Amino acid sequence: MAAASPLPTPAPEPAITLPGKTPLGHPIFTRIRLATPSDVPHLHKLIHQMAVFGNLTHQLSATESSLSSTLFPSTKLQPFHSFTIFILDVSLTLFTDTPYHTNPFYNPTEEVVNLDLAIEDPERETFRVGKSDVFAAGFVLFFPNYPSFLAKPGFYVEDLFVRECYRKKGFGKKLFSAVAMQAVKMGYGRVECGVLDWNANAINFFEGMSAKKLQELRICRLTGEALQAYGGTDSE
Ligand SMILES: CC(C)(COP(=O)(O)OP(=O)(O)OC[C@H]1O[C@@H](n2cnc3c(N)ncnc32)[C@H](O)[C@@H]1OP(=O)(O)O)[C@@H](O)C(=O)NCCC(=O)NCCS
Repeated sequence: MAAASPLPTPAPEPAITLPGKTPLGHPIFTRIRLATPSDVPHLHKLIHQMAVFGNLTHQLSATESSLSSTLFPSTKLQPFHSFTIFILDVSLTLFTDTPYHTNPFYNPTEEVVNLDLAIEDPERETFRVGKSDVFAAGFVLFFPNYPSFLAKPGFYVEDLFVRECYRKKGFGKKLFSAVAMQAVKMGYGRVECGVLDWNANAINFFEGMSAKKLQELRICRLTGEALQAYGGTDSE
């Protein structure tokens, strides 16, 4: 029997490019995760930026220390049942810092976004997360309320903020959607957010997210000395 001739080596296949799957442009990795006490310095700066944006710095009395003691007290607050913060992180490479995945209350969501133009972040170093090449780009702070007409809890969004250089890229949508998704998951009936009447950009944003603007609603706020006046004298 004639010896079998060796099988021909297959010619290398030409590389196939799949238009829909090729990362065109500038990929940026995004992650939404629960905030931890080590985020407080970033949160303080983000809240300050939020106050500057709203011309409200005269109302700002939060410090890193007061944020730390109220958001992360020694008796831990359970996320979603009290003040809760999602941080939006961005990175130019895959996230390799994994401690957030061990959080029993929320598994971080990661997504890659392909942008037409690279983002120049002038505050990279200020918002670097730990020693990694991960940067905090925004946050949302929310907590449960109770719309009695629905006889179901809801979430009130106190702050939603994306740093300026990261806006208009779908990141605000990701943060707000994460809150809405959590509300649905918990069987909650509503998610709402107060917006200053001149903030057309935010109003458009929320309407774009299918939220309804309530023309008839006004907020009546008791704070500062007016609130303290109710303290009276302690006769005990
Ligand atoms: C309001 C705010 C959170 C929105 O965040 P954002 O990241 O800019 O929002 P998004 O990018 O998700 O969506 C905004 C727009 O960008 C568009 N967009 C989304 N992805 C995009 C992309 N890759 N390229 C270009 N545009 C994009 C969206 O379609 C949307 O446009 P539309 O409103 O015309 O539909 C942000 O502007 C902000 O932090 N503002 C200051 C604070 C504030 O006003 N907070 C709200 C009240 S608490």
